Amino acid sequence: MTELCEIATKRRADKATTWGYTPIYFEWLNRGAQTVLEIGVYGGASLFTWRDFFPEAKIYGVDIDMHYFEPDGDARIKTITCDAYNRDVMAPHLAEIGPIDFIVDDCVHMKDEQVELLNQLWPSVRPGGVYAIEETLTGSRNAIMAAINGLPDVRRYMCWFAQDVYWLTLIERRR
Ligand SMILES: C[S@@+](CC[C@H](N)C(=O)[O-])C[C@H]1O[C@@H](n2cnc3c(N)ncnc32)[C@H](O)[C@@H]1O
Repeated sequence: MTELCEIATKRRADKATTWGYTPIYFEWLNRGAQTVLEIGVYGGASLFTWRDFFPEAKIYGVDIDMHYFEPDGDARIKTITCDAYNRDVMAPHLAEIGPIDFIVDDCVHMKDEQVELLNQLWPSVRPGGVYAIEETLTGSRNAIMAAINGLPDVRRYMCWFAQDVYWLTLIERRR
């Protein structure tokens, strides 16, 4: 079990418990990350996981409904309540955040929305950084592949089969 698996299991993040993504994330992620953004906060299990895993990072979470999230007072976690698919609303937040080492789309898990977020957020990925799409459906993979092929500066990508019809997609930006 990796240290990320242990942290995520303790935080009851479904990245570990339901999907088993954490060993793959552990291989791909750089613990020196300075900035992390997750789209989809819900109860915050994954925000707390990233905060505990990346010792120096500022952790941003975007959700349209922050009702279920209870902050623990740590200034390293910052939440933004807005519609992640509204580019006009997101743009000033992204400008303020600056380059991001690791972005996770754990939002609505639907093909068109996943492609929209990827295209919207890829320019914010720092060179050498990683973009993740959780719960990519098997039936969405052609659309996701086409979107990846249209991105500049992709160093490598991987679609990792989790279970049933769900995949984790990881994309690394060239340095
Ligand atoms: C799967 S949950 C996130 C779980 C969280 N990452 C975790 O691991 O604990 C998906 C979240 O996406 C949020 N969401 C749905 N539509 C959204 C939108 N248009 N903009 C931002 N967040 C949205 C929901 O409110 C929900 O909290």
